[in-house]
Amino acid sequence: MRILGIETSCDETGIAVYDDYYGLMINKVFSQVDIHNKFGGIIPEIASREHLSNIFSLVKNIFKKKNDIKNINAIAYTAGPGLVGSLLVGATFSSSLAYSLNIPTIIINHMEAHLLSVMMENRCPIFPFLTLLVSGKHTEIIYAHSFGKYSLLGKSIDDAAGEAFDKISKNLNLNYPGGPEISKISKFGVLNKYVFPKPMIQQKNLNFSFSGLKTSVINFINKKKNLNFQFKADVAKAFEQSITDVLVSKCETAIKIKNINRLVVSGGVSANKELRRKLQNMIKKYQGEVFFSRPEFCTDNGAMIAYTGMLKFKLNQIENDYDIKVFPKWKIYE
Ligand code: KG4
Ligand code: ZN
Repeated sequence: MRILGIETSCDETGIAVYDDYYGLMINKVFSQVDIHNKFGGIIPEIASREHLSNIFSLVKNIFKKKNDIKNINAIAYTAGPGLVGSLLVGATFSSSLAYSLNIPTIIINHMEAHLLSVMMENRCPIFPFLTLLVSGKHTEIIYAHSFGKYSLLGKSIDDAAGEAFDKISKNLNLNYPGGPEISKISKFGVLNKYVFPKPMIQQKNLNFSFSGLKTSVINFINKKKNLNFQFKADVAKAFEQSITDVLVSKCETAIKIKNINRLVVSGGVSANKELRRKLQNMIKKYQGEVFFSRPEFCTDNGAMIAYTGMLKFKLNQIENDYDIKVFPKWKIYE
């Protein structure tokens, strides 16, 4: 059984093939980072045009021999959440190709795929578990009961953590995406040279708020005329400390409230090394385990779409028509 996975929710065109016997066979990501970098963030119109001009050749290149594509049993594509134009490119392409091959499509929720991406690793959790989903648009704590059954425990009431990383990076004249940039430069920063707020850290609920922290860091940066390397590194360090402390503290609160010590952390921000280090330390207190994906599965990729497609295909959760389905605000919880 073999599934082709297509990911186009934002600015990465991801194509992968997952086989239930051989595992992940192909995983290609075409990143548009260099294009969007010039604008300091993603331009949705450009993102969809780029998907359109790349998707066909990417798929054609992975099926070098004409008959290879005939071994595909279904096409899984990201139907949401994401940018509507980008989603439409993947959905239209996938539905048309599936129609021509007379195989079904499977619609995938991008955030569910992030959550399950850890299952492709050798070390993976059993259900139920807690999940911190941290990406460019989402910061959520979710209770994963079983495959397909999720409850929301808390989320950001304003900006997502990834969004805050991206904005601070931009204000420090660093590149997009901001997460890896902040992380890189913060290694040279002096710990506690500056201290920024840790919003909602004292509150016992599981919600987050990052817009105040973002504004306070930006105001601080704007007071400085010359942004030299050391200043940038010290600010990046202080910001990274605040945001990771809040994320870790809320995970700890969730562990206590739900009395469960298996924690999955996924989405782009889960690649952050400081966050990983702090979570590993925290979980020791609860004799628990924290599970991460390898870095290339943290950010957007086709592998997690093909893998989730495989799980849904086995449960016969396939589409019975070739309608183009996109749900830009699709949530995984009730
Ligand atoms: O999951 P993802 O690739 O796309 C969305 O679904 O949004 O996440 C992208 C986000 C960006 O905001 C990026 O800055 C952040 O993940 N990110 C990181 C790191 N790598 C990517 N944030 C902090 N540290 C990193 N190492
Ligand atoms: Zn994502």
